[in-house]
Amino acid sequence: MATRTRIFSFVFVMMMSFTVLLSSCSARVYKVGDSEGWIAKDDVYYAWAETDYKEFHVGDSLIFEYDLSFNDVTQVSGALEYELCDYSSPKAVYNTGHDVVTLTKPGFHYFITSNQTQCVLGQKLEVLVTHDPSSPVPPPTPSKILPVGTTYKVGDSEGWKVYDSDFYNKWSEEKQFHVGDSLLFEYDNEVKDVYEISGDLEFMTCDPTSPVPVYKTGHDLVRLTEPGVHYFITSQSASCEAGLKLRVMVGPEPKAVAYPNFPKKVDLSAMERLNNWLKTFKPQPHH
Ligand SMILES: *[C@@H]1O[C@H](CO)[C@@H](O)[C@H](O)[C@H]1NC(C)=O
Repeated sequence: MATRTRIFSFVFVMMMSFTVLLSSCSARVYKVGDSEGWIAKDDVYYAWAETDYKEFHVGDSLIFEYDLSFNDVTQVSGALEYELCDYSSPKAVYNTGHDVVTLTKPGFHYFITSNQTQCVLGQKLEVLVTHDPSSPVPPPTPSKILPVGTTYKVGDSEGWKVYDSDFYNKWSEEKQFHVGDSLLFEYDNEVKDVYEISGDLEFMTCDPTSPVPVYKTGHDLVRLTEPGVHYFITSQSASCEAGLKLRVMVGPEPKAVAYPNFPKKVDLSAMERLNNWLKTFKPQPHH
């Protein structure tokens, strides 16, 4: 299919440009479609993204300008949704007519319009976002440091080799996953692998063409760092269709983090001492 070939050549060109070119470290703002804006015009966004070998980095922004009576900007999570103009399970929807979308994560980002006619005519944009190679990846801010969660061995003693999606559904539904937990996939890495994919359609159709990360060691520890639904499949379609796939629902990190070994008495008296110390600075209110 021509679209597919175009996508692959686009990806190739983007990857080449990332390895060849160095860029400045400041965040950039790109107006999608330049003076044309966000409209339906065949291939305009494919050409736009390729012009001057645009490199999109984490921190850059895209500006979408359009007539909001006909269009919007619907961000979808997978390549299939993008290709099929399927806006039924969007990741985000923007509809002010002048939307500034900051690219906060590396990976592929897919934008379409929910106006099916316009989308089919070519009003869709795919960008590959990378970390700026000229600036170091910032360390996580303290608030982003995740609690040490539970590690779950996928499939328990069976591991990642059961051809039965009901088995993995049941395994997953019996547990409550939280941000900070990890999944351990154990399998024979000569015949299997683990692809994390982002879309429900990809999961249903066992489509491994737009994986988020790929794991192949046979003993992969996957940290769940984001809440939401996470999808894991094997890249061999036949095995995946036979049921080697896993969907997990990840809840936010637990609010009240329990420190089981923390001596609570010491904690309380420390708080009291701190309070008393603070009181020495403040006049006590009169009763
Ligand atoms: C889609 O866009 C066309 C303009 O090309 C417009 O005539 C039509 O009403 C739009 N459809 C919707 C559902 O907004």
